[in-house]
Amino acid sequence: MKRQAATYAAALALAALAGCAQAPATVAPSAAAARSAAAPPVGAQPSANTEPPSARPGASPAQGFAAFPCLSYTLPCGKVATRKPVAKPLEGPLAGDAARGMRIAHARDKGNCLACHVMKGGTQPGSRGPDLSHYGSTGRSDAETFGAVYDMRTRIPDTLMPPFGTHGILDDQELRDVVAYLQASR
Ligand code: HEC
Repeated sequence: MKRQAATYAAALALAALAGCAQAPATVAPSAAAARSAAAPPVGAQPSANTEPPSARPGASPAQGFAAFPCLSYTLPCGKVATRKPVAKPLEGPLAGDAARGMRIAHARDKGNCLACHVMKGGTQPGSRGPDLSHYGSTGRSDAETFGAVYDMRTRIPDTLMPPFGTHGILDDQELRDVVAYLQASR
């Protein structure tokens, strides 16, 4: 209990230091609840609709968050139209450019790998995926790495990681460059 209080105090101090003016010092569950009550969930009916959420088809009786997207590829809630997983073999030698691969991996409109991964030379990473900043020392082959970035669903069916090759987000050479960058991250 004492430790929790200290952590909370430290978090408040950090928030104040970071200049989070819009987050009042009294951020408490009640404030968060008030905010979510004020903002209708994604896909909710316009405010003129006075129907209770439970009256809408598929809405959860308690919250009406049923329209919130489900990120699963395999659960019934996530049965969205998507391409089937593809196990793509690496053809020929890698022939990737690590410097170019780093730019592609970090670019928000390309790989955007930093949204989920810590990466060498990158800033403001997300924390959902494993740290890749020393990936090159883990002894993984080029082919294995290429296949994983091409379509991680071949390894983990319900992964959060986008299938960069199968969905055409990165082309063959871009994938080779990203793999070269990962392998050069030591
Ligand atoms: C939406 C989040 C997300 C994005 C974006 C993302 N990844 Fe991942 N990645 C993951 C997660 C999560 C895992 C761990 C596997 C799992 O649990 O699904 C992973 C695993 C990996 C692995 C395997 C690591 C290991 O040690 O086996 C590699 C390599 C990888 N990602 C590379 C990339 C690259 C390169 C990009 C950008 C082109 C990228 N990822 C973008 C979420 C993401």
